Amino acid sequence: MLDWEAISGLKMVSLESLFLNDCERTQRFSIDDCGILFDFAKTHLTVEVVETFGRLAQSAGLIAKRDALFGGQIVNVTEGRAAGHCAERGEGAADSVARAKTLHSRMRSLIEVIEAGGMGEIAHILHIGIGGSALGPQLLFDALARDAGRYDVAVVSNVDGAALAEVFRRFDPHKTLIAVASKTFTTSETLLNAASVLEWMTGAGVDDPLGRVIALTAAPEKALEWGIDETRILPFSESVGGRYSLWSSIGFPAAIALGWSGFEELLEGAAEMDRHFRFRPVEANAPVIAAFADLYYTQVKQCETRAIFAYDERLRLLPSYLQQLEMESNGKSVSADGARLGRHAAPVTWGGVGTDAQHAVFQLLHQGSHLIPVEFVAVIEPGHDLDEAHHQQLLGNCFAQGAALMAGRPSDDLARSYTGDRPSTTILLDRLDPRTLGSLIAFYEARTFVNAVLLGINPFDQFGVELGKQMAKAIDAGGVTFDASTMALIARAGV
Ligand code: F6P
Repeated sequence: MLDWEAISGLKMVSLESLFLNDCERTQRFSIDDCGILFDFAKTHLTVEVVETFGRLAQSAGLIAKRDALFGGQIVNVTEGRAAGHCAERGEGAADSVARAKTLHSRMRSLIEVIEAGGMGEIAHILHIGIGGSALGPQLLFDALARDAGRYDVAVVSNVDGAALAEVFRRFDPHKTLIAVASKTFTTSETLLNAASVLEWMTGAGVDDPLGRVIALTAAPEKALEWGIDETRILPFSESVGGRYSLWSSIGFPAAIALGWSGFEELLEGAAEMDRHFRFRPVEANAPVIAAFADLYYTQVKQCETRAIFAYDERLRLLPSYLQQLEMESNGKSVSADGARLGRHAAPVTWGGVGTDAQHAVFQLLHQGSHLIPVEFVAVIEPGHDLDEAHHQQLLGNCFAQGAALMAGRPSDDLARSYTGDRPSTTILLDRLDPRTLGSLIAFYEARTFVNAVLLGINPFDQFGVELGKQMAKAIDAGGVTFDASTMALIARAGV
């Protein structure tokens, strides 16, 4: 766990002074690798801050824990298992990598069968899943394959029937392939949605609706019980956590929409970032430095939130994806060995899309009383053929916001004055392709891991989601008593 004594003495020097006193600050705090520039210069990181956190990382055993992660050892201590997501992209213990490869080949073969017409004519793919079984594939498809035109793909996660109803209006049940994605194959929302899809197909006179369903799961026996034929079950390893699972068969919609080579590039991009994380020294290691900045703001400056703005429409789902990754992983108040932390661990991750967010929430970022570290994610190559003025303006706005947050502008009229000295990180991708997106997502995974190691928590469990699930089941079953407010709501809604 962090030694709070060591970090409490860290001073916050203004960004303006940091730049004035170091003409090489931009280079010193920028890391360029995997087709991505990570610019930390506009954060309050200094050589001293990095060295202090470096010492803390050493005492937290970061190197040994990183090796344990890649070595397939039990890093998810509360559940007694390894965390196998890196093995999915070929970085990890040899046996886990070999198993992931075999399962990937199985996915590839099924995709070939589908493409050869083995499951009938397919124009639409309906992916049903929730949380990690939806956010990853949705992000990948939206970012990389929206315009690929191979298949019309919809990801439905919400149990609110309105989500499915909208897809039913759009899709032809006779030409739809269903992918039911659930690590556990017990998630009630997913199973209810999947059952409704079968009803929709049956109602439309589809011959063998179950024959159009494939399962993406770490519990193949449950999918089998549910009625899906073994040949259409694409398993993945139990050690791959839900929010880390897009590299496994959960990534099926992206793999089919991008084509297999595109999916392999995604994995290779992630592997490249894994190697960066494993082998680069601290000062040149993007996930490590990013985590140090996170910890500096949450632990030293007591920031309770951090904001991410994607200045690229193709990355509009990135903030939601990262919310799950960071908040479900590190939203804990107990250490891996069961002691109370007595501190916040993960900040609240939130964000949106630029430039839209500038006209909605940036007021608070510039003039509110909260100190909120901001992260901008932008792409140099545009994702469209429209007039280049669009991209010029988009990137110009992105860079202007970072500069404005930092510089501020004093005024005698307090309502019009900007204090400045507000931190931001800019992550600038050369282009958005499977490889670079793979690297970017792997960067966030590694950063989340480093945060967890220094905080002494286990980022791979999520017991906090269970109580609400159990209570929802109890409401569904009826006959239970809750508090008066909840009982009144149940009665009023007739649930
Ligand atoms: O409720 C949280 C959670 O367990 C997530 O961790 C997971 O990604 C999601 O639900 C879906 O679970 P499953 O893939 O087992 O359906």
